[in-house]
Amino acid sequence: MSSSSATEFPFTSADFQTIVGIVYERSGIVLNTHKRDMTYSRLSRRLRVLGLRSFRDYCALLKGREGDREVGFLIDAITTNLTKFFREAHHFDFLREQILTPAAQRRNGERPHIRLWSAGCSSGEEPYSIAMVAAALQRETMADWDLRVLATDLDTNVLKRARAGIYSRASLESVPPTMRETFFDRRPEDRSSSQVRRNIQDLVSIRQLNLLTTWPFHGKFDAIFCRNVMIYFDAETKTALIERFHAQLKEGGWLFVGHSESLLDHQTRFKLCGRTVYRKIGQ
Ligand SMILES: C[S@@+](CC[C@H](N)C(=O)[O-])C[C@H]1O[C@@H](n2cnc3c(N)ncnc32)[C@H](O)[C@@H]1O
Repeated sequence: MSSSSATEFPFTSADFQTIVGIVYERSGIVLNTHKRDMTYSRLSRRLRVLGLRSFRDYCALLKGREGDREVGFLIDAITTNLTKFFREAHHFDFLREQILTPAAQRRNGERPHIRLWSAGCSSGEEPYSIAMVAAALQRETMADWDLRVLATDLDTNVLKRARAGIYSRASLESVPPTMRETFFDRRPEDRSSSQVRRNIQDLVSIRQLNLLTTWPFHGKFDAIFCRNVMIYFDAETKTALIERFHAQLKEGGWLFVGHSESLLDHQTRFKLCGRTVYRKIGQ
């Protein structure tokens, strides 16, 4: 270990490999050797809380009778939750122009039924950005639709923050000013933070879901945002997930991925239609 704090808790290669194996099996997240220092620093806080003396003791806890509960804390500590409102703003223009505007038109006199999924939603900035775009368009066009946003993540801590919907003023800087004024309330008890308004929160259902497990929903989605999540997975996990997203989308449905991601290995399933926006091919 390179950092001086590394001496606080003995951390052997065998300990690291045990953690790598559990994290991969439970979350699909791949921890390469260069993540070893990060693993040490994120988990040493946990060892301190538990009063443990070494990573060997921590690994014994993970593999022991109480292990399942501790694995939840382990995964929460390891996930990277970086996000922001309107991250990759062009995706939200695309959502508005190419997906929601056409979808808002009634067909055969039926009320449009629109389902959107933020898969790996972190602390909520992504699903609330989606909901704000929809609500702003709905106000402008008086669209009469049944629209819901599902927001899921594996990490318990970020989901608590998403449910609270409270954000610092600084984190609202990437929200377009009119939306900031329309869809947030300043909190009287803490003027440095704001809360997402109830009408936006009501559009979003927040659930804990590990993408690797069975998905408990039957309906299909018009669009799935899975941005900056699959970058932590290996090719095998990513391929399996892309197949499942394909099956979970309506015909002609859309998949949004992060700026550094590509589905070009899956050209029989998805067609590139915009900057990191893909459209489902076939049924
Ligand atoms: C970097 S954040 C991306 C947040 C947001 N999509 C964005 O692009 O701003 C990645 C999120 O994926 C979640 N994640 C990682 N592995 C997961 C899994 N197996 N199932 C569900 N969520 C997972 C993490 O907890 C984390 O919140």
